[in-house]
Amino acid sequence: MNLLIDNIGELVTNVAGTGEGGPLGIRRRAALLVEDGQVAWLGPARYAPAADRRIDAGGGAVLPGFVDSHAHLVFAGDRAAEFNARMAGERYTGGGIRTTVAATRAAGDNTLRGTVGRLRAEALRQGTTTIEIKSGYGLTVADEARSLRIAAEFTTETTFLGAHVVPAEYADRPDDYVGLVCGPMLRAALPYAKWIDVFCERGAFDADHARAILTVGQAAGLGVRVHANQLGPGPGVRLGVELGAASVDHCTHLDDDDIEALASTVTTWVSEPESSSTVATLLPGAEFSTRSPYPDARRLLDAGVTVALATDCNPGSSYTSSMPFCVALAVREMRMTPAEAVWAATAGGARALRRDDIGVLRPGARADLTILDAPSYLHLAYRPGVPLISQVLHNGVPACQP
Ligand code: NIG
Ligand code: FE
Repeated sequence: MNLLIDNIGELVTNVAGTGEGGPLGIRRRAALLVEDGQVAWLGPARYAPAADRRIDAGGGAVLPGFVDSHAHLVFAGDRAAEFNARMAGERYTGGGIRTTVAATRAAGDNTLRGTVGRLRAEALRQGTTTIEIKSGYGLTVADEARSLRIAAEFTTETTFLGAHVVPAEYADRPDDYVGLVCGPMLRAALPYAKWIDVFCERGAFDADHARAILTVGQAAGLGVRVHANQLGPGPGVRLGVELGAASVDHCTHLDDDDIEALASTVTTWVSEPESSSTVATLLPGAEFSTRSPYPDARRLLDAGVTVALATDCNPGSSYTSSMPFCVALAVREMRMTPAEAVWAATAGGARALRRDDIGVLRPGARADLTILDAPSYLHLAYRPGVPLISQVLHNGVPACQP
């Protein structure tokens, strides 16, 4: 059984240099054939092969599904009152994480599962076909393991964030908590986790603790990602580069050495444009929701660093599951062009997860895509807040329809 998507006004492939050229590889008046969950063919609509089923894109744009490479979906409760206080002038310090930890520990499995399911469905309706999900609101061996077990029911991109903050019961003995994370907690997390992450920040984990945790996780086979330089300058980005992290996330407070370290990971592949092996993942929903200055995306892009955009969806600093919202913020507030922002939200996210089967539409890639109720990807930033995602295909299967 195959499926033809026909009458595509603008097809964003992210295959650099094809179609009209440039990183988005745009083709006009195109069609795309899906078979066995993969893209089987794409080309001019007039050459489209016959197929068992057909979807008429109505002249709209078709894009690779969004790849949200940074989200914290396993939690209970919300922190609307904390948001309200911030909008009245209070600063975000990350202190509210412990509030969510208490609520998460008290919640039953089905409550947590219900929240993850609701947010995953919400993201899918907005075009997100791949999502990374972190633990980090359990902070006991059992609660971190169950957070990851539940996350793994919804995605293969699961991240162990036992080092989110030092929980209250370890407040006066952080070394003991790091020992717990590196030993029993990591062992309990391993069956369900693909990645390891640390919140490397003043008030959370310093460079020595972060290095110890990430190194032992890496030795156990997990890929490295770091929450780095979110609330102030610090060692997180350089540590991530030192350890060969797939991504350093937030990157709000960077100095020249941080940019240079990221730029030093840039490689040029024969068939690909240059990219940095450590991606800088920017999370503009966090700056929006904490009323903080946005990261300097232009400085990173101009240095050749690969930039991804993600939501950071969590109940404290960024309670949005919307990648289109993040694209619009990146364009308006971070001076990214619409093309750079759409690439960062699709192919950039795929690079941050070291995946080459998603974030791109070419024969053999996964048939994860969105059909817009708009003629061009430009409308994602041009029409902010408007529900433009008209259909989503996940693994070649229509996932959401209006
Ligand atoms: O990425 N910075 C650390 N963790 C989250 C916030 C978590 C929270 O406030 O609950 C973040 O922004
Ligand atoms: Fe985060």
